[in-house]
Amino acid sequence: MNTLFLYAHPNPLSFNAALAQVIQEEIKKKGGPMKIKDLYAMNFNPVLSEQDFEGYHNGQLPKDIQQEQADVSWADLIIMQGPVWWHSVPAIMKGYIDRVFSLGFAYRYTRQGPEGLLKGKKGLLITTSGADQKAAEMSGMLTNLERSVAGVFPFTGFEEYKHHNFFGVTTVSDEARKQMLTELGELIRNYA
Ligand SMILES: Cc1cc2nc3c(=O)[nH]c(=O)nc-3n(C[C@H](O)[C@H](O)[C@H](O)COP(=O)(O)O)c2cc1C
Repeated sequence: MNTLFLYAHPNPLSFNAALAQVIQEEIKKKGGPMKIKDLYAMNFNPVLSEQDFEGYHNGQLPKDIQQEQADVSWADLIIMQGPVWWHSVPAIMKGYIDRVFSLGFAYRYTRQGPEGLLKGKKGLLITTSGADQKAAEMSGMLTNLERSVAGVFPFTGFEEYKHHNFFGVTTVSDEARKQMLTELGELIRNYA
């Protein structure tokens, strides 16, 4: 299974960086090919521009989008990972979705409504939040993530997808955080 791993965190010493390490190790153990997109390290440009819009219409897309769309097409499994920032993901990840999962490539409109074009793929969204589970549910944070970020998967035709959030990561004990790393390892082994 070809895996595309999209990762967004600016700090290599963050808890997210530790989670990203687990994902990469587990995918490597599985043995399938993996492409890693560390969006901050790539200095990915997340701003959807006029030039992008023109490209969607005339087929002359900027080189960076062409490359990313080729990698999305190549992937059987797409993993997105990052912290929850303002009930969403960091802007660099949101901008990746804006620019790469574009009309005509990831979905199109038909008389029957929108149709996803990325058929047969599996998606996985891994997030971390400061909020604990109760606060995340009460504030609508989980629903917002399901509808906006994880919602990209079903909208664009993925066959299957999953979202897992690690709660309260800024306040739980080191022991609890270690447990989360173990849990993520199991999740990847079972899902990927
Ligand atoms: C700009 C910003 C916005 C944030 N917004 C939220 C939020 O909406 N909900 C939440 O639970 N935590 C929020 N947080 C807390 C982060 O989710 C938390 O710091 C992160 O998951 C911790 O992981 P890290 O140590 O890998 O950065 C926010 C943090 C920042 C910096």
